[in-house]
Amino acid sequence: MTTRIFCRVCDGDVEEFVDFGRQPVSNAFVVPGEEDSEYFFPLAVGACSSCHMVQLVEEVPRERMFHQDYPYLSSGSVLMRNHWERTAKSFLSTELTGDDPFVVELGCNDGVLLETIAHSGVRHLGVEPSGGVADIAAGKGIRVRKDFFEESVAARIREQEGPADVVFAANTLCHIPYIGSVLRGVRDLLSENGVFVFEDPYLGDIVDRTSFDQIYDEHFYFFSAHSVRETARLHSLELVDVERLPVHGGEVRYTLAPAGSRTPSEAVAGLLAEEAASGLTLPATLTAFGERVERIRADLRALLTRLRDEGSRVMAYGATAKSATVLNHCGIGPDLVECVVDTTPAKQGRLTPGSHIPVVPADRFGAPYPDHVLLLAWNHAEEIMAKEEGFRAAGGQWITYVPEVRVT
Ligand code: SAM
Ligand code: TMP
Ligand code: ZN
Repeated sequence: MTTRIFCRVCDGDVEEFVDFGRQPVSNAFVVPGEEDSEYFFPLAVGACSSCHMVQLVEEVPRERMFHQDYPYLSSGSVLMRNHWERTAKSFLSTELTGDDPFVVELGCNDGVLLETIAHSGVRHLGVEPSGGVADIAAGKGIRVRKDFFEESVAARIREQEGPADVVFAANTLCHIPYIGSVLRGVRDLLSENGVFVFEDPYLGDIVDRTSFDQIYDEHFYFFSAHSVRETARLHSLELVDVERLPVHGGEVRYTLAPAGSRTPSEAVAGLLAEEAASGLTLPATLTAFGERVERIRADLRALLTRLRDEGSRVMAYGATAKSATVLNHCGIGPDLVECVVDTTPAKQGRLTPGSHIPVVPADRFGAPYPDHVLLLAWNHAEEIMAKEEGFRAAGGQWITYVPEVRVT
């Protein structure tokens, strides 16, 4: 007998389409010697047959992922720093031009977006449960509340600060299984003419590119215009704009407003039509995605095994959260990849979760160069390949694995 899986948005039936088996917490980099105390959970993804929301079938307790030592730093990429500055400036010149405007950011991390807002003198508040990164933001003069945003926290913010003109969340809403509580909180916190703007990896890009490594513990939801429109509707909000973004392997920025307060843009109808035409929400599309994942797994393992047998030196680049899924699902460990270089101080000197490959500082790259590098941070390919052009000049080759395994 199969157990029924209830949709976290609408209580409908969730049909599983890929099972990655036991996986570790993706940002829980392991202290050498402590490999035996790792936490694992069953990672599988499914789609709701009623509201079409694609979601994990099991959640990891939030305190296991987001805590004092959460290592991810949003400021780690130059291209992303520019993206956040542009985003903040665009809010400042559109939604935040009234009398004493107020913006709240959920998951502000190290404050990379809010620093532009703080410099402009606009009233702001970051809500960030991970203590270490919240401290970095506070150190930049940003107002931060160390909390998990949810309905009760929203009510307290509204009481203390009044309504918000903008609530913003980047790469954070999709991390929150209790999305109903968040949306009820946002609805209460927003002013009559306020907007909730959030950007997250787009299901359409994940399916098109077979970027299965976007699926890991922190990414609980995989949004589409269809599922977001329905989720918003259930909470008296309306999807009024969408914008495709080239960052993090393809995202969409969604704008929600209190129902009836704004006219939806043509872009909303356009993306809904595109999703319908491509069959994005059809079970057959998601099953075919699962089959392509297995092809990549077999090809990548075969390539790395052959390179090892030929005596090639292989390193990896970018100890991303995403890499937990690809390394563990494909069975890639220190026998196939000698180390992963990464600029994040809190990841260095540790081992990758589950797969136990040593993480080393970026200056280990090129001293000397390996023969091949598995690019785990493929979403930063342009920035990394430009920075490391000496590697190819020295005869090295990059290995990428989405949309298929390639050596270039
Ligand atoms: N916004 C940043 C960016 O796009 O680079 C950070 C993204 S990071 C992947 C996700 C962040 O969401 C983490 O810093 C985490 O601590 C935070 N977070 C998780 N649950 C949250 C919640 N309920 N409320 C606010 N922030 C949350
Ligand atoms: P992300 O895909 O979640 O943004 O994570 C990117 C990871 O890659 C993060 O651990 C930082 C690392 N990184 C480098 O080591 N060098 C770089 O040039 C860039 C852009 C990222
Ligand atoms: Zn549903």
